[in-house]
Amino acid sequence: MKTFLSVHDSPEIQKLIDKALLYKKNPLVDKNLGSGKRIGLLFLNPSMRTRLSTQIAAQNLGMDAIVFNVGQDGWALEFEEEAIMSGSTVEHVKEAAPILGKYFDILGIRTFPSLKNKEEDYEELYINQFVKYCGIPVVSLESATLHPLQSLTDLITITESFQEKRKPKIVLTWAPHVKALPQCVANSFSQWVNAWDKAEFVISHPEDYELDEKFTKGATITTHQEEALKGADFVYVKNWSTYSDYGRIYCNDPKWMLTNKKLEVTNKAKLMHCLPVRRNVELSDEVLDSSNSIVTQQAANRVWAAQSVLSEILKNG
Ligand code: CP
Repeated sequence: MKTFLSVHDSPEIQKLIDKALLYKKNPLVDKNLGSGKRIGLLFLNPSMRTRLSTQIAAQNLGMDAIVFNVGQDGWALEFEEEAIMSGSTVEHVKEAAPILGKYFDILGIRTFPSLKNKEEDYEELYINQFVKYCGIPVVSLESATLHPLQSLTDLITITESFQEKRKPKIVLTWAPHVKALPQCVANSFSQWVNAWDKAEFVISHPEDYELDEKFTKGATITTHQEEALKGADFVYVKNWSTYSDYGRIYCNDPKWMLTNKKLEVTNKAKLMHCLPVRRNVELSDEVLDSSNSIVTQQAANRVWAAQSVLSEILKNG
């Protein structure tokens, strides 16, 4: 593996999951693998889990990790080719990225979408410009349309939480939110579950909230949440804004928020969410605080997902 931007960079999904679970048992087994190497973690947007878990993962592999909050502390970056930089941007990625490529051995980058221009967001200009100009392996810490470290974490969490010999039923269900959020987590989760091909996968959302078919193809898609939840082993809750009429809020109907009553039709489903979550908007207190919620276990597993990916890059990058 040379870069980690989507599931397409990691054809051996099960190998990454198994490696992550080995690291969970023995975090320091490869403590010298990254000795003398340095990872730069660039954040154009806020983060708690991704930032800290990737730092810990790097340290477990013996690497130095340096965080740079570009959006807060850095010069405003320009990404467009042939831009006339007479506006607010101060430094072009064509200068910044190769310099970072000299400082670091691996670069992790977090960007968000504008949610204004679908074509630009789905071209992944920001992260692709870093890949083009930095000359070292790049790891997505969440991009405009995908969140692969989160999705790998999610499959790790499902694997360790499901002991039966059959395929689990996984339901991704839309939830209300007060802000227009990216489609990244839902796109990425769909992409990874479909590629993994070890689960029955159902997506439920209100009308007009269809995701890009290139990520969801293979899943059963329904606007009937109650029907979707029947017999579910895992329920993954997430809000996203509209994809077709891009970046809008068409629905804020609280009836889409999960309750323990709604979950009675599931197979005692485990509850998942990538976090952060808005309590009693996206997910009710009673569901988040129930013994079926595995959101803390899921967030803790971010370390092992990051460690599994970094170790692959260190060995093969
Ligand atoms: N799930 C996730 O990416 O969390 P952070 O935004 O805190 O990194």
